[in-house]
Parts: sequence; structure tokens; C-alpha cells
Amino acid sequence: MKYVIINGSPRKKNTWSMVKQAKTNLGEDAEFEEIQLMKAKIPMCNGCFKCIMETEEHCPHHEIVNQIIEKIKWADGLIITSPVYAMNVTGLIKNFFDHTAYLYHRPEFFDKKALIVVSTAGAGHKDVAKYIDETLRHWGFNKNYKITYACGGKDSINTEEINKTAQKFHKDVSSKKLHPPKFMDIIFYNAWKAMALTKDPIKPDAEYWKSTGLVNHDFAPEVKLGIIKKIFSKIMFFVLKKVMK
Ligand SMILES: Cc1cc2nc3c(=O)[nH]c(=O)nc-3n(C[C@H](O)[C@H](O)[C@H](O)COP(=O)(O)O)c2cc1C
Repeated sequence: MKYVIINGSPRKKNTWSMVKQAKTNLGEDAEFEEIQLMKAKIPMCNGCFKCIMETEEHCPHHEIVNQIIEKIKWADGLIITSPVYAMNVTGLIKNFFDHTAYLYHRPEFFDKKALIVVSTAGAGHKDVAKYIDETLRHWGFNKNYKITYACGGKDSINTEEINKTAQKFHKDVSSKKLHPPKFMDIIFYNAWKAMALTKDPIKPDAEYWKSTGLVNHDFAPEVKLGIIKKIFSKIMFFVLKKVMK
């Protein structure tokens, strides 16, 4: 399997040692691409709105950001890391996420799975992992696994816990099986779909939802919905379409 690792720490230390341990569980034939965000030097998002209003190609930093997006497309699995900084993700991760705001409007990674790795001195690790999980779900990610660890005062990592989660991630990525979405994912899917179908939509959104055919589905067609979620999705679309006009 192919994995891309996006390291949101400016250094290769506590969080990276967790990644190194996780990697030992991903199979002998695993192929890795490594992106150190510190080295990628993505300029700060300047809030021009071009990615959203004119398509991502118009972002002034498109060339750098797109190299990372292309690696995610190439990979079967994403490993994304952040230490806790001031009770949140690092600025490196946040700045990268800001450059992907268009993916909220135009989600595309419906067949991808991720392993989220977060370290902290003492607190904030669960919330940070949850925030990364939510962001990836907005991009369309199908399933995310989380490894979090509070290193404060300890000089070793929790190898057993890391191995257990990494093995589950590896098994799931290898299976290529896609899981049904959460109810919240279905709500967001329909919100963006309804927005793309309003009288005066954001043009790239309307173009994307129509050209991909996603407007014709209750969720991305490669992800199967059970009958309850199917009905839920249809009701959500009906309601959101009415609200948005
Ligand atoms: C700027 C900065 C802010 C931090 N903020 C927090 C924090 O809010 N809570 C906490 O428990 N640890 C905090 N830490 C500690 C790191 O999360 C912790 O040492 C982490 O394991 C570092 O990971 P790394 O070695 O991969 O960079 C902070 C560290 C730095 C450098």
C-alpha cells in the first residue's frame, strides 16, 4: 500500500517517534512519501477567497499546495501528524488546512483513510485529533484512525497502543472496503450539494457538483448507504434545498 505522511511538527521528535513506530505495522511492501510541512514553506493563506470563488488553481500558492494534494491522491492512506501547540494544531497544519478550504465546498477524497497522530506534553491531544478528523471528513475522507499520546514526564511512547491502532488502519486500507458515512457527514454532503444548486451558486461549486455527477446521489456513489441513511439523506436534501433556495 502507498502512504503519504504529512508531518505538522516543525521537528522530527516526539510525534515523529510515534509515526516511526506506526510505520512498522504497515506491511513490508508499504511505500512512503514524506512531506515535512516545515520544509514545504507554504506562505500564509492571504484570505483572497480565490480557491473558493475561482477554483483552487487560482490560489497564489497553488503550485506548492497542489504538490501535497497530488500526493494524497496518489496514496491509499494518509498519515497526518501534529503536536499540540497552545491547545490546538500547529500553525503549520492550520495554514495547510486554510489552503484546503475549497475542499469543504468540493469534497473529493471519498475513498481515502487516514491515521492521525498527535502528541502533547499533557493536554489537548484528544481535541486536536478530533479537529483533524473533522477536517478530513469535510474533505470527504471515509475513515480516520487516531493515535494520541501525552509524553510529559515520560521518556517512552506507548508502543502497544500505537501498534494496535496502526494495525487496524493497515488492515482497513488494504481491504479497500468503504464504510458508511456518519449522519453528520450526510448532513454536510447535502448542505454543499444544496448550496451548489441554489439560483446564484458559487460557480466552481456548481460546476464541480454537476460535472462529477455528485448532485445525482445521496452520497458519493462509491460509498454505500443503508436504507435508513439513504432516507435520511433524501430528507436532509429536501429540507436544506428549501432553506437555501
Ligand atoms: C509552541 C508550543 C506550544 C505547546 N503547547 C502545548 C499545550 O498547549 N499543551 C500541552 O500539553 N503541550 C504543549 N506543548 C508541548 C508539545 O505538544 C509536546 O512537547 C509535543 O510532544 C511536541 O511534539 P514534537 O516533538 O513532535 O514537536 C507545546 C509545545 C510548543 C513548542
